[in-house]
Amino acid sequence: MDFITNPKIDEYLRSLVNIDDPVLLKMEELGHRLNFPIVDRLVGNFLYLITKIKNPKLIVELGSGFGYSAYWFAKALRDGKVVLNDYKEENIEKAKKFFKEGNLTEKAVFEVGDAVENAKKYKNIDILFLDHEKSRYLEAVKELETNLSENALIIADNVLWHGKVIEENPNNKTKKILEFNEYMFKSGKFFSSIVPLRDGILLALKI
Ligand SMILES: C[S@@+](CC[C@H](N)C(=O)[O-])C[C@H]1O[C@@H](n2cnc3c(N)ncnc32)[C@H](O)[C@@H]1O
Repeated sequence: MDFITNPKIDEYLRSLVNIDDPVLLKMEELGHRLNFPIVDRLVGNFLYLITKIKNPKLIVELGSGFGYSAYWFAKALRDGKVVLNDYKEENIEKAKKFFKEGNLTEKAVFEVGDAVENAKKYKNIDILFLDHEKSRYLEAVKELETNLSENALIIADNVLWHGKVIEENPNNKTKKILEFNEYMFKSGKFFSSIVPLRDGILLALKI
C-alpha cells in the first residue's frame, strides 16, 4: 500500500499548495533527481503552519537531509532557530548553500553527527521534529523528553509507514513504529493526533 489517501484527493490537496520560493522549488527538484526522501510539499506546508501558530524559539530536527523540511520551518520562524542534524556532512553542506541562497542562514544551526546525541545539548526545545531512522523514533523521544520545553510539540513523519502499520504480520521496523505510536498516545505524557497526510504525520503536545 503506497497511498494513505486516495491518489486523486492527494492530487487535489497538492493543487491547492502553491510554492513561489525558487529555493524550495530547487530543493524539490534535487530531491526528485536524487530520489532523496524529503517530506512532501504538503507536509512542508503543514510544518510551516504549525510553526506560525506555535511561534517557537527553538526547533530541533532529527534527520535533515539537505534541509528541505528545515527550510520550511525557518521560513515560518519569527525570531527563533532551527537546528539541522544529519550524520552525512555532504547533506549539511548542501543545506548550508540552500539556506544562504534563501537568506535564512541566521535562523539555522547546522550539526553533523548522530542526531539524538547532538540534540541532547539543546534544552527547552519547543518543536522536536523526527525524520531520521524510523526504528529510532521512540528511543529519541525517551532520550530527549527532559529537553523539551513546557507545552512542546513533537512532530514525526512517516508514522503510517506506507500503510504497513495495519499489516497482520508487521516486520521489525514496522513494529518499532507501532511501539512509538502507542507510546505517544498511551504513555500519558503527550496528547497526540495522527494526520493522515501523505505517509502520516504525528503531532503531539507535551502534557
Ligand atoms: C528522510 S531523510 C530527511 C529528510 C528531511 N527531513 C527533509 O524532509 O528534507 C532522513 C535523513 O536522516 C539522516 N539520518 C538518519 N539517521 C540519522 C541519525 N541517527 N543521525 C543523523 N542523521 C540521520 C539520513 O542521513 C537522511 O539524510
